[in-house]
Amino acid sequence: MIQFIEDKRVFHLFNHDVSFVLALIPDRWGNEELLMTYYGKRLNHPECTLRTSQWREGASFDSPRQLLPYACPTDGRGDFRPPMLRVLQENGGMTAELFFQGYEIVPGKPDLQGLPSVYTEDDSEAETLLIRLFDRKTKLMVQLAYTIYAERPVVTASCKLVNQGENDLLLDQAASVTLSLPGSYDMIHLHGAWAKERQVERIPAGCMTRSIGSVRGASGHEHNPFAVLALPQTTEHAGDCFGVSLVYSGDFEMTVDENAYYTTRLVAGIHPRHFSWHLHAGESFQTPEAVLVFSENGLNGMSQSFHSLYRERLCRGEWRDRQRPVLINNWEATYFDFNPEKILAIARAGKEIGVEMFVLDDGWFGKRNNDDSSLGDWYVNEQKLPGGLKSLSASIHDLGLQFGIWVEPEMISPDSDLYRAHPDWCLHESDRMRTEARNQLILDLTRTEVQDYIISSISKVIGSGDINYVKWDMNRNFAEFGSESLRDGREGETSHRYMLGLYRVLHEITSRFPHVLFESCSGGGGRFDPGILAYMPQTWTSDDTDAEERLRIQYGTSYCYPASAMGAHVSAVPNHQIGRSTPIRTRCEVALGGNFGFELDLTKLTKEEIEEVRRQISRVKEIRETTAQGAFTRLLSPYEGNITAWQFADEKRLVVCAYRTLAHPNDRQLPIRLHGLCADAEYVDEKGNVYSANDLMAFGIQPDLPQRDFSSWVMVLIKKEN
Ligand code: DGJ
Repeated sequence: MIQFIEDKRVFHLFNHDVSFVLALIPDRWGNEELLMTYYGKRLNHPECTLRTSQWREGASFDSPRQLLPYACPTDGRGDFRPPMLRVLQENGGMTAELFFQGYEIVPGKPDLQGLPSVYTEDDSEAETLLIRLFDRKTKLMVQLAYTIYAERPVVTASCKLVNQGENDLLLDQAASVTLSLPGSYDMIHLHGAWAKERQVERIPAGCMTRSIGSVRGASGHEHNPFAVLALPQTTEHAGDCFGVSLVYSGDFEMTVDENAYYTTRLVAGIHPRHFSWHLHAGESFQTPEAVLVFSENGLNGMSQSFHSLYRERLCRGEWRDRQRPVLINNWEATYFDFNPEKILAIARAGKEIGVEMFVLDDGWFGKRNNDDSSLGDWYVNEQKLPGGLKSLSASIHDLGLQFGIWVEPEMISPDSDLYRAHPDWCLHESDRMRTEARNQLILDLTRTEVQDYIISSISKVIGSGDINYVKWDMNRNFAEFGSESLRDGREGETSHRYMLGLYRVLHEITSRFPHVLFESCSGGGGRFDPGILAYMPQTWTSDDTDAEERLRIQYGTSYCYPASAMGAHVSAVPNHQIGRSTPIRTRCEVALGGNFGFELDLTKLTKEEIEEVRRQISRVKEIRETTAQGAFTRLLSPYEGNITAWQFADEKRLVVCAYRTLAHPNDRQLPIRLHGLCADAEYVDEKGNVYSANDLMAFGIQPDLPQRDFSSWVMVLIKKEN
C-alpha cells in the first residue's frame, strides 16, 4: 500500500481505488524538497505525475517556487501562496527551509499524542508513511504522517514539529495538511449560525483565496471544519471531488488558493489568528489530523466514505455500533420550570407510547431556575428535586425507562459557589473586563487543577444515580484568550491548550463510564465536529427543531457526518424557534433521519397525535438499524427545489423519504430516482408488491406526498433474499 520508488524518488500511497503521490525533487545543490504531486483515482505509474510542464513554464519573471505543489509550504521563500508553517526565530527570521531527511513506513496508524484521530482496529487496515523534513538553520524537524486505508478512499495527514536545536522557536502557524491539485475547483462548505447550522454553499472557482474558519475557541456554528473541492461539473452522483475534514474542535482555518497558473492549494489546520506556540529546545508540537477523501462518484460517494469512516473508525466505545434509544428530553417541555411530578408525568406518557429514555435537561443543580447562575456547582437542587438524582432516576427506571442528564462542565457562572471560591479559574486577561455571554464565563481548561475539578465533579454526578446518558453542553464561545497559567507572552497558546485540556477531560470521563451514552451539544450544533465525535458518538444537531428547517440542516450535516451522529427530535408546534406549524407526521418523519427523540410535553398531545407518534416510534425501532448504519444517499436537495428526498439502504431494507415544502395547485411530482443500489436486488413493500432495484434507479419511485404544505412520505421496502 505504500511504496518508495527509489530511483524516481516517488512515494506511492495506494489501494484498489486511489493513489496519493509524494515526490522528492532536488535543487541545484542536491537538497531534496517534498512535493504532493497527486491525489485521485488509482494510478499505475505514479512517476507520471512528475512529467508535467506546469511547474516550469510561464513564470519567467516570477518565482519558480510559486508553481511547485509543496507538501509542507513555509512562508518567506518565494512561494507566495498560503503557507502551512511559519516559524519565528529569535533573530527575527520567519521561514524554514525544509529538506528531506528520511522516511519510515509503519503498519497501521499511530495515535496522535493528546489529540483525537481516526484509528484502525488491526494493523492490516492501514499503513503510515512518516517523512522527516529538516531545517538546518533552526534545527526544526518536521515529521509528516500520511496514512492510507486499505479499503477506503481515505488518506489522513498530520504533522509533528520537533525543535532539535538549542534556541527557542515560536510557531506562528502550524497547519495540518496541504493538498495540491492542478486546475480549478468549486469550494463547497457548511456555514451557519445558531439554529441554522451547516447550510450548504458552493462557491465557484476563481483566481483568489477563499477561506473558512473559526476564531471562537470552538469549531462553531458559523463554519464547520470541513470543505470540499469539486470540479465545476461534479454533482451529487457523478464527478471528482475531494473532501477535507479536520479532527479538531477548536479554532480552525481552511484556505483554498487558486493562482494564475491554475494550481489549487488547500491548507487546513489550527487557525493562526489566536495561535502562537513557544517550542523550546527539545520540545515537540503535534498538529490535529486532517482526513482527506477522494470520490469519483460525486458528493454522495464522498459523503458515504466519510460516514462509514466516522461511524466505524472515529466513534468508539460500547455505543459505537449500538442502537440508540428513543428519548424524551424535557427542555422545550418545561425549560427551567419543573418538579418531579411534571417530569414523571412526561416520562409516563413517553413510556406508554414506546419511548425508551428520559433526559433531564438544564436546571437541576445549584440554585438554577434560569440561565443566570450555578454553572460549576454540580450538586443537585434538593428543593426542586427532593431526594436528588438518585430518587428521580430510580422513579424513572421504575417506569421502565433509562435515565439521562444534562451538564455544561466547561462553564462557570459568576454567581456560583465555584466562582466565589476560584475567581481566577475562568479564561480572562489580567486587569481587563471578563466578557459574559448567557451570563457565564468559560472555565480555564488549560489548567490541570481545573480539568481535575471537572473530572471529579462530573464523575460524581454520573455516579450519583443510575445514569445511562449524558448530554454535554457548551453554550458560549471565547472572548478573552487569556489564562492565569499562560502569562509572559504565552497567551497565544490558550486556545489550543484549552482543547488539549478538554480532550483529556473527555477521555477520562468517557473511559470511566463506558456504559453511558454521551451526546455533545453546543447551543445546538455549535461544536459538531470529528474531534468531539471521537469521544461522544452523537451530537445535538441544532436547537432549531422545526421540521422544514431541519431538512436543510440535516441535509447539509450529511455532507460529512453520518446519520448515527445526529440528534433529531420532534418538538411542539408552533415551533419555539421560528413559530411555524408542521404536521406531527412530518416532524416525526424528518426526525427519523437521525437519533430519534422528543423535545415536547407529551402530556399535551391530542389522542390522534398520540396514535401517530406511537405508530412512528414503532416504525423507528423497526428501521433504526438501517437509518443509523445503512448507506445514506441524498436524492433531492432542499436547497434546490420544493421536494427534498433521501434514502437509507442496507442488506435488509430500503427506506425512502420525501418531503414537500409548499403545496402548489397541479403540482405533479415526478418519480424520484434512487441511487447506488445493487441492480439485481429486489424489494417488497408491506402489501407484497415487488420492486426491482434496477427500475427504482432507472425510472424511480412515485412518492405519495399529501397535498398540503410541509408534508412527508416514508416508504420501507424489505430486500428479498436471493
Ligand atoms: C442549549 C442546548 O442546545 C439546548 O438543547 C438546551 O440543553 C439548553 N442549552 C439548556 O441550557
